[in-house]
Amino acid sequence: MEIAATSLRSFILLLLTLQNVCGWAERPFYPLPSKETNKSRQPIQTSRPYNIAHRGSNGEIPEETAAAYMRAIEEGADFIETDILATKDGALICFHDVTLDDTTDVHKHKEFSDRRRTYEVQGTNVTGWFTVDFTLDEIMTLRVKQRYEYRDQSYNWKFSIITFKEYIDIALDAPRVVGIYPEMKNPVFINQHVKWPGGKRFEDKFMETLLSYGYKGEYLSSDWLKQPIFIQSFAPTSLVYVSNFTDSPKILLIDDVTVPTQDTDQSYWEITSDKYFDFIKKYVVGIGPWKDTIVPPDSRNYLTTPTDLVAKAHAHDLQVHPYTYRNENVFLHFNFHEDPYAEYEYWIKVIGVDGLFTDFTGSFHSYQRWTSPTESDKDDTALNLLHKIAEMILSFKPT
Ligand SMILES: *[C@@H]1O[C@H](CO)[C@@H](O)[C@H](O)[C@H]1NC(C)=O
Ligand SMILES: *[C@@H]1O[C@H](CO)[C@@H](O)[C@H](O)[C@H]1NC(C)=O
Ligand SMILES: *[C@@H]1O[C@H](CO)[C@@H](O)[C@H](O)[C@H]1NC(C)=O
Repeated sequence: MEIAATSLRSFILLLLTLQNVCGWAERPFYPLPSKETNKSRQPIQTSRPYNIAHRGSNGEIPEETAAAYMRAIEEGADFIETDILATKDGALICFHDVTLDDTTDVHKHKEFSDRRRTYEVQGTNVTGWFTVDFTLDEIMTLRVKQRYEYRDQSYNWKFSIITFKEYIDIALDAPRVVGIYPEMKNPVFINQHVKWPGGKRFEDKFMETLLSYGYKGEYLSSDWLKQPIFIQSFAPTSLVYVSNFTDSPKILLIDDVTVPTQDTDQSYWEITSDKYFDFIKKYVVGIGPWKDTIVPPDSRNYLTTPTDLVAKAHAHDLQVHPYTYRNENVFLHFNFHEDPYAEYEYWIKVIGVDGLFTDFTGSFHSYQRWTSPTESDKDDTALNLLHKIAEMILSFKPT
């Protein structure tokens, strides 16, 4: 009895030493997604602002790839975010730009050299290789790269573009409940260039996919909590249109003050007026504004006085999920003395947003664990269980 307790005690001490040596304690990761481990999945947290993994964990891994989404889940994302575009043959894919030029190796594929086109996209002539001129099979022969040169390039050309369905599967296979946050991207442009049988529109295909996976239910309903989702778009017409097919919560994205809506050609001022919020709140649960429209920076890169956008949205019972938060100095305003945690602190504590889009889900998750720990957070790792066992054993004195 005494011998057993002593050797168990040594074992635990060894484990704790190993843990310090290997640095296990530094960042608690969730286990990788696996179909086997979701029997009693930890629910989505709803007690603090949502951690929305912008294009996955794209600060570390090329955007909108399976690896970027799995990394974001591992790092604690509440929602994984994506942009949905279409291919020539009508498949829905996760990809941000209407052209493949900036983040794929399409320029190295000689067989596609005659595929470059110039199209008008939101009032500007754009030249490049457009997703709408490639079939899904062709798109799948491409490999993607990191968008920003100052981020990790070691994952370049390893991953391919994924489909809308593959993205949903990643969320549903996660070891805890993880929401999706898909955008109907450039719907006006896509509907001009891609035709589906039976006169269906991009928005119809987008909704068919979501409904086939069982996404439904109002915000915080039991259906929603099982498979959380926010549907987002910069195009109010598309949000109003899909409201006929789904009561899933929707978010109206709002661009910079100089950019009119791509479908209804309304100004920033028009769509942020009290009158417009009264109208759109029948269809959406919140807005997703560019963060500089909430707190405009000056020419010296310091923040100025916040606008009344958040107060106004909250007065209309609309959530506010601004974009995009990025750790790198080049994106941080000088008020934050090069510290991304200071930026999160300001937006959460001073501005009072309800969620935010970040390129670095792991950083935002760490910030939230340190500043707003909840019971489920404290108990969710094997490491904490190990600590509890260690405490019990170490205090055990054989008589
Ligand atoms: C995991 O979750 C998915 C989606 O909810 C479900 O289809 C599957 O049966 C679950 N697997 C297990 C082992 O519970
Ligand atoms: C785009 O190019 C076409 C063809 O040259 C031209 O007719 C059109 O006016 C251009 N559009 C814009 C917005 O510049
Ligand atoms: C929604 O459905 C109703 C009834 O079928 C129809 O009258 C209306 O035009 C539809 N709205 C949109 C935006 O498609």
